[in-house]
Amino acid sequence: MQNYRAANFSIHDKVVIITGAGGGIGKAMALGLGQAGAMVACVDRDFSAANAVAKEIGPDKGVAIDCDVTLEDSVTAAVAAVIGRFRRIDALINNAGQLHRCLVKDHTLADWNRIFTVNVTGTFLFSCAVLPRMIEQGAGRIVNFTSALGVRSTPGGAAYGAAKAAISSFTNTLHQEVAGHGISVSAIAPGLTNTAMANDNMTSEYMERIAASYPGGRLGQPEDIIGLAHFLMTEASKHVSGSTIFVRPPGG
Ligand SMILES: NC(=O)c1ccc[n+]([C@@H]2O[C@H](COP(=O)([O-])OP(=O)(O)OC[C@H]3O[C@@H](n4cnc5c(N)ncnc54)[C@H](O)[C@@H]3O)[C@@H](O)[C@H]2O)c1
Repeated sequence: MQNYRAANFSIHDKVVIITGAGGGIGKAMALGLGQAGAMVACVDRDFSAANAVAKEIGPDKGVAIDCDVTLEDSVTAAVAAVIGRFRRIDALINNAGQLHRCLVKDHTLADWNRIFTVNVTGTFLFSCAVLPRMIEQGAGRIVNFTSALGVRSTPGGAAYGAAKAAISSFTNTLHQEVAGHGISVSAIAPGLTNTAMANDNMTSEYMERIAASYPGGRLGQPEDIIGLAHFLMTEASKHVSGSTIFVRPPGG
């Protein structure tokens, strides 16, 4: 057996792009991976929020990038800025997302398209933008954010659930396309996590009911996702690719 060392879990000096790093789970991952030694490009359409996170990581390791993941030119410029600053891209975390709850019979096309564009098209655009550099490097990690609601949604969650299901499918397809280039593609499906997204869209009764079924009887906190994201950046996880990893079982 090869030496199994702590170094297999090191992400020191790895260059990681995190979209939606200005708040919620993205912010927690940016700060956590930064503390673990990664260089973190904090991408968000809310630049001041991303900038505050990058500052907390520190001037040598953190950089804020103003970018809307739904706009191709904005994404291209963001990736060029990361390469200009750090010269490589070890990992991309497609975390930026939005949720809109509405029954199908009342849904507007505009809201349907917005949810698909942010979640699915944003993931597609950012992945496309980093692939040339990762293929050239012969290595890279892409981690997408889906949801247990992508397998089993609830009334009012049609657009979000369908968009997150699409991300899991995209993850598996992209994995097959780039595995030969040394690139791993995985998806994380958090359970209900205490962020602005959850608090703005779920009733407190629903959150309390779900929390009661979680370990410790509490909702997930953004910090609970850092360890899994960290693992997917490491040498130790290089054989993990193509799957959606569920933090909580769908419907559970
Ligand atoms: N919170 C949960 O319970 C939960 C559960 C399952 C999956 N998720 C997924 O986890 C990810 C993070 O969710 P969160 O709860 O931290 O969300 P959040 O709303 O708290 O934070 C999302 C961040 O993304 C940014 N963002 C939104 N649209 C953007 C765009 N077009 N371009 C750039 N940045 C944009 C926001 O400014 C914000 O900083 C999302 O993909 C979400 O769908 C969340």
